[in-house]
Amino acid sequence: MTAEEGGDNLGSQVAFILGTRPEIIKLAPVIHRCEKRGISYTVIHTGQHYSDNLDSVFFDQLELPTPDYNLDVGSKSHGEQTGEMLIGIEEILQSEQPEVVLVQGDTNSVLAGAIATSKLEIELGHVEAGLRSFDRDMPEETNRVVADHVADCLFPPTEKAKSYLVEEGIPESRLCVTGNTIVDALQRNRKLADRKSSVLAELELDRSEYLLMTAHRAENVDDEDRFRQILTGVGQVADDLRADVIYPIHPRAESKLEAFDLSIPDRIRLVEPQEYLDFIKLQENAKLILTDSGGVQEEACILEVPCVTMRNSTERPETVSVGANKLSGVDPADIESNATTMLQRNSNWENPFGDGTASEKILQEIGLEFSASETELSGVNAPD
Ligand code: UD1
Ligand code: UDP
Repeated sequence: MTAEEGGDNLGSQVAFILGTRPEIIKLAPVIHRCEKRGISYTVIHTGQHYSDNLDSVFFDQLELPTPDYNLDVGSKSHGEQTGEMLIGIEEILQSEQPEVVLVQGDTNSVLAGAIATSKLEIELGHVEAGLRSFDRDMPEETNRVVADHVADCLFPPTEKAKSYLVEEGIPESRLCVTGNTIVDALQRNRKLADRKSSVLAELELDRSEYLLMTAHRAENVDDEDRFRQILTGVGQVADDLRADVIYPIHPRAESKLEAFDLSIPDRIRLVEPQEYLDFIKLQENAKLILTDSGGVQEEACILEVPCVTMRNSTERPETVSVGANKLSGVDPADIESNATTMLQRNSNWENPFGDGTASEKILQEIGLEFSASETELSGVNAPD
């Protein structure tokens, strides 16, 4: 364990436990609200993600403080990774004694943070609670179910997510529907992306003339046949539309691509994982997004860009019901036909993920003392 500035924050009101790209992005608005409200906090990074382009680039761009602790756990098997986090997190929480711990989402960092906290006399809040794919083969499903069932306060983003928790017997008194903090994040960063990102020029792309793809989920890219089908399907869509595909490739996918020696269709252009403002810009201006990411399904929906999800299930069914997303599986013909369907749709669907006040609602709900008060919620996500 390295405690980068550990020890200075004894008695913080909130401890944030995070470890991966989507957690950094989706907890950033809550951390910013703590700053505005004068709430003291500690950031504990598990080190699950450590490559600059999955980690430090987001701290810099989102103007987050360096984590107080970094466990530097790195890449390991599920058991080893989660176990090392559990030991490290427990030690830190015992010395820090925060009033509340917040975890977000469904990664191994969330699982470890949730279990460690639940065995101590510290309240646990789960941000983005109640998501269910009903596919227990996905490690994320186990992580989110466990986190929900040991949490004291749960923040489902939608009424649907809340209904799953109620069906599972979690008392309603623990639940507060907040919307998703990704809306808060986009409200803060969309205009910045528009002003600051030159990614379209750098990649020589014209608005609505290219497709954007991400694929990194273990159930897809660790399976040679599924990964090949995804590449074939997206390649066919690109050929049909005579459009290039930008694929910012996650390191898990990159290593599998090499290990399986898969060939990449001509129109798919591999690029490094993108920093957040550039990725927002790439999403906003794409003709179509093809993905297996959870966060990207939400962002495509909010940004009104049609989306095809190359998975057999989704824990974001709201995106499908409002008409923003189609689940295609990985069969190339299905990817192609769902892409055609989505491109024919009018993209004026409603945003099911709230109005950008999720972070404020979460802080109100956990009932901490605020040393700075602010009653006006509009414009809450403007950068300082
Ligand atoms: C994890 C989450 C997944 C989430 C994703 C976000 C779990 C079980 N999975 O998947 O739900 O969608 O983060 O991106 O928690 N690697 C690097 N650099 C890094 C991190 C990883 O090169 O900074 C490579 C390593 O080869 C590693 C592989 O990526 O073995 C997978 O990393 P890991 O953290 O185990 O899972 P993700 O696929 O990133
Ligand atoms: N993202 C990014 N750069 C990229 C790809 C994704 O900034 O090159 C952001 C994206 O905008 C979203 C988040 O990463 O907010 C999604 O993370 P990821 O797909 O890794 O994980 P998931 O949401 O599937 O757990």
